[in-house]
Amino acid sequence: MTGKIKGTGACPGDRLVTNEDLAEIVETSDEWIYSRTGIKTRYLSTGRGTSEMAAEASRRALENAGIHPEELDLILLATSTPEYCFPSSACQVQEKIGAVNAAAFDISAACSGFVFALQTACSFLASGSFQRILVIGADDLSKITDWSDRKTCVLFGDGAGAVVMEAEEGGLFRGVMHSDGRKGRVLTCLSRSEGNFLTGKKPEYGFTSMDGQEVFKFAVKKVPECIDQVLSDAEISKEEIRYYILHQANERIIEAVSKRLKEPIEKFPMNIREYGNTSAATIPILLDEMNRAGKLTRRDKIIMAGFGGGLTWGAVLLEW
Ligand code: COA
Repeated sequence: MTGKIKGTGACPGDRLVTNEDLAEIVETSDEWIYSRTGIKTRYLSTGRGTSEMAAEASRRALENAGIHPEELDLILLATSTPEYCFPSSACQVQEKIGAVNAAAFDISAACSGFVFALQTACSFLASGSFQRILVIGADDLSKITDWSDRKTCVLFGDGAGAVVMEAEEGGLFRGVMHSDGRKGRVLTCLSRSEGNFLTGKKPEYGFTSMDGQEVFKFAVKKVPECIDQVLSDAEISKEEIRYYILHQANERIIEAVSKRLKEPIEKFPMNIREYGNTSAATIPILLDEMNRAGKLTRRDKIIMAGFGGGLTWGAVLLEW
């Protein structure tokens, strides 16, 4: 038993922001941002939070799959930007879409979140615990971005993407997940400091901070390694893979992975130019674009791979 993706949906932030717009708030330029990252624009959310973008992406995925919300028995939502400590964003989505029969919980693995959630879903489907699972990647990064820090603020966007998975006999699934907490400081965002009446400190909220070059080196090394690992576990050659759908963090990282794997860049679809890095949402948003453009054919073998804060990284091989 494995999981099959039955439908996809996406919901980006509502406001298009160009590199030129950002050059008005920090010292940067379209030339600098585009040449180093491949990003031209991003969508930021001005009204909808994580759970509302996630709910909208989920409605679209359910419609695309032809499945009613009451038929879902699990909702997994990968995010680093929940609106509440509790209830979880997954429970908020459950309420918003009316998935009354589902259990729901969040997964926290930063930009690897969707890949981790997808593997969690596939394992549940394989074990027979659940039959239909909604897997969502959603982030509202603009609310944890320091808009005076040009090193980070030019990179990120807001959005959500979702897939509906159903248990299916046969099929193909392999996945790997990795974490290295020792390198956590390379990419951080404080959620809430330890202030209480004993410490005398007031609770503080943090913003994203990053050592860009360290993250770059980590991604270029670890992503090809975990893709190779998945291929070797599945005993499948690279030639059999139709697409590598990678976390959209930087066009140069994707190009470097393509070179290291010795696979043509045409097999690495990208939409970072338009959306920027939407963290857990990049892969399902791209998958939805490809699905709706008719670029995926039944039985295509695809690999999705993510990396990010934690540090975390992983890859999933699935048949469309
Ligand atoms: N506009 C203009 N100049 C900028 C800038 C910006 N937005 N951001 C940084 N700079 C400047 C720096 O201050 C530095 O100037 P200095 O040499 O005078 O000190 C110079 O550009 C080079 O900075 P550096 O950080 O070395 O640039 P880089 O070539 O490493 O590119 C990133 C920066 C962030 C684009 C790149 O490191 C990267 O993409 N890393 C991966 C990040 C990532 O993917 N994060 C998400 C992971 S999920």
